[in-house]
Amino acid sequence: MRSTGDLDVRGRVVLLRADLNVPLDGTQITDDGRIRASLPTITKLAGRGARVLVCAHLGRPEGASYAERAAGGPSVEPVSRRLAELLGSDVTLAADVAGPSAAAAAAGLADGQVGLLQNVRFEPAETSKDDAQRAELARRLAGLAELYVGDGFGAMHRKHASVYDVPGLLPHAAGELVIAEIAVLRMLTGKPERPYVVVLGGAKPSDKLAVISSLLDIADRLLIGGGMSYTFLAAKGYEVGNSLLEAGQIPQVSAVLEEAAKRGVEIVLPVDLVAATRYAPDAEHDVVPVTSFPADREGVDIGPATRELFATELADAKTVFWNGPVGVFEFPAFATGTRAVAEAIKAVHGLTVIGGGDSAAAVRQLGFSPGDFSHISTGGGASLEYLEGRRLPGLDALDGTA
Ligand code: 3PG
Ligand code: MG
Repeated sequence: MRSTGDLDVRGRVVLLRADLNVPLDGTQITDDGRIRASLPTITKLAGRGARVLVCAHLGRPEGASYAERAAGGPSVEPVSRRLAELLGSDVTLAADVAGPSAAAAAAGLADGQVGLLQNVRFEPAETSKDDAQRAELARRLAGLAELYVGDGFGAMHRKHASVYDVPGLLPHAAGELVIAEIAVLRMLTGKPERPYVVVLGGAKPSDKLAVISSLLDIADRLLIGGGMSYTFLAAKGYEVGNSLLEAGQIPQVSAVLEEAAKRGVEIVLPVDLVAATRYAPDAEHDVVPVTSFPADREGVDIGPATRELFATELADAKTVFWNGPVGVFEFPAFATGTRAVAEAIKAVHGLTVIGGGDSAAAVRQLGFSPGDFSHISTGGGASLEYLEGRRLPGLDALDGTA
């Protein structure tokens, strides 16, 4: 994989695919970690006299046409404002993705200047499964620039036009963030020091079952909390009330539990939960053992006995990977479990990697600093798929093997 140092960028328009997919509350950015993580490549390229045209997605716009999606948003306008603040220089925001405004923005960039295209997912072709549709958009995007740099690590697992197809059309290189992320993930897939403990939370087991199966090959212990734990608890026959449940996944989850038992990999599930009357920051709530979960409540956090259990299971770890909060950390009343997991990981002497937009946002929001962990990854799905041993389309494209 070539790095940006291999490209002669001065005076040339570089299309930089970044992952600036930040959490928003309306138009307010609640965690700018991904923008910050993209700065090194942007500033280095700009410092070398490149005309940096940034391409990024934000959220998952809905609608059949460009017009519908653009009307529904989200616009990357708040991202361009924050990027300009962090860079300390103007960022030209194009009003479209690969149309006349984008072309004008590209043409108007001076050496060292930075521009941002509108949300690339306003173009329905960006995420299309149809190769020809993606290719058409890729040609328009490539037409804006002379060089391509792939630095959107968090989106590298997506076979999308701006991630997968454009690099084939322009001389390309990997950005600093991608190279740094891969270096850390390689340590996790190589010979990690043991015990290797993986903490998995977040919403959907269906997204993560494949990775759990392959983690059984490499991890010594899996601690499962948060939204996905309810399907595991249900698979063990426990009542989970109104908690997030993917009932259709119960057979697969049971198979994973059996396989883990066979291989001697410990799967540690919550023993108590915070059960709330509804999904709201001020909902009434109690701690209950998983053996007697009320049918009219929903799980919103792990309980104190589970916090202690997870901390004990992490205490002797030499390698830790954590993806997904173990509770609704966005609501302060239900952030205790996620905070406790972060504390326990912070106390580990070894390689500690926090993976994923949500977990990364959670640790920052809860006041932890980057130095508390070995690495905070900007990629959730991307890092999980890498750990699973899957090839990431975006990386393949940069390798030239796509
Ligand atoms: C992410 O937030 O996980 C990445 O930016 C990719 O976004 P996506 O999950 O909507 O494809
Ligand atoms: Mg995602």
